[in-house]
Amino acid sequence: MVKSAYIHIPFCKSKCHYCSFVSFADLDLKKDFLKILAKEINHFYQGEILNTLYFGGGTPSLLEVSEFENIIRLFNINKNTEVTVEVNPEGGSYEFFRGLFDLGVNRISLGCQTFDDKILNLINRRHNAGQVIDAVMAAQNAGFGNISLDFIYGLPAQTQDGFLHDLDIASKAGIQHISLYGLKLEPDCHFSKNMPVNLPDDDVQADMYLAAVEFLKSKGFEQYEFSNFAQKGFNSRHNTAYWDNQEYYGFGVASHGYQNGIRYANLDTIEDYLKDFTSKKETKLLTQKEILEEEIFLGLRKSCGIDVDKINSKFGIDFSSKYKNVLVKYLDLGLLEQTTKGYKLTLQGVLVSNVVLAEFID
Ligand SMILES: C[S@@+](CC[C@H](N)C(=O)[O-])C[C@H]1O[C@@H](n2cnc3c(N)ncnc32)[C@H](O)[C@@H]1O
Ligand code: SF4
Repeated sequence: MVKSAYIHIPFCKSKCHYCSFVSFADLDLKKDFLKILAKEINHFYQGEILNTLYFGGGTPSLLEVSEFENIIRLFNINKNTEVTVEVNPEGGSYEFFRGLFDLGVNRISLGCQTFDDKILNLINRRHNAGQVIDAVMAAQNAGFGNISLDFIYGLPAQTQDGFLHDLDIASKAGIQHISLYGLKLEPDCHFSKNMPVNLPDDDVQADMYLAAVEFLKSKGFEQYEFSNFAQKGFNSRHNTAYWDNQEYYGFGVASHGYQNGIRYANLDTIEDYLKDFTSKKETKLLTQKEILEEEIFLGLRKSCGIDVDKINSKFGIDFSSKYKNVLVKYLDLGLLEQTTKGYKLTLQGVLVSNVVLAEFID
């Protein structure tokens, strides 16, 4: 049964120089988009009580509170449902947060990226550092006790000291969750065509990551996935459903979903989506072998790793003998380690996870 839903809000007022997420600047299409989004939800959603509902983007905070209300009321949620909204700092007023809180939204994810105003300018963000702090305080005053900040490391002109300074500010802001993403430039983003000269290289990026893991641990943020850190009890339940290979609905332009063994991607232009919200850009029925590989691939992203008994009973295999050679190789190299329930990547393993995880795939 599907217990999670992701909704993609495909609008941004401008494009950040590093970003390739699907978003459009033409806000005149917002009303039409929301009308069709409601139709799509009514068409596909089976009425299950949701564990998690996640509004991502793009910039969900370009929606009015009343527009959120019209979407949220289409779902069967209760006080146990984790309802997250991604908010861009410049859109985070007290009234907005209070409105969301009153609708049952209980988790806010703010795109901070860095507290360095010079770098924010270089990467074409619309906000400055002060606005992030203001948004955090506004969300707290409105009642939110589960707030996450996103950071990117490896940004132009960024140093390890500068990045740790960002995390130090975050750790003092009374927030519960932090996501750290290594800068990754896809071919279609602005920076790929206009490469900045002062990008930290891969080794510096890896050092930044290791230093950040250490630093956040010292501040009481437990790492529970490659990129995610939380105070006790504040892991993102929505993202954990992905890493646990659970099913989820994907609604909205360019969203992805996973149901009945099928991974699908929605149409990725607003025009196509408005014309035909039932069509998909891609659907792929996974074989049992592919589902197993995804389960390993996603599970090893988590700091607790994979549960071998669960995998054995779900797939009718003997994991330890099926993957004996890979396991021995990477245990010996110190990139994997055994846990009481199975296996997990070590921190060094996380740095070369692409290589290790590829070996679990035929
Ligand atoms: C789906 S985006 C949307 C968040 C929101 N629109 C914002 O920018 O505040 C979620 C996060 O992905 C990260 N991100 C986006 N593009 C990235 C890139 N090219 N490399 C690394 N992280 C990226 C940013 O930290 C961003 O906050
Ligand atoms: S990072 Fe966020 S605000 Fe910037 S373009 Fe991407 S989705 Fe939009």
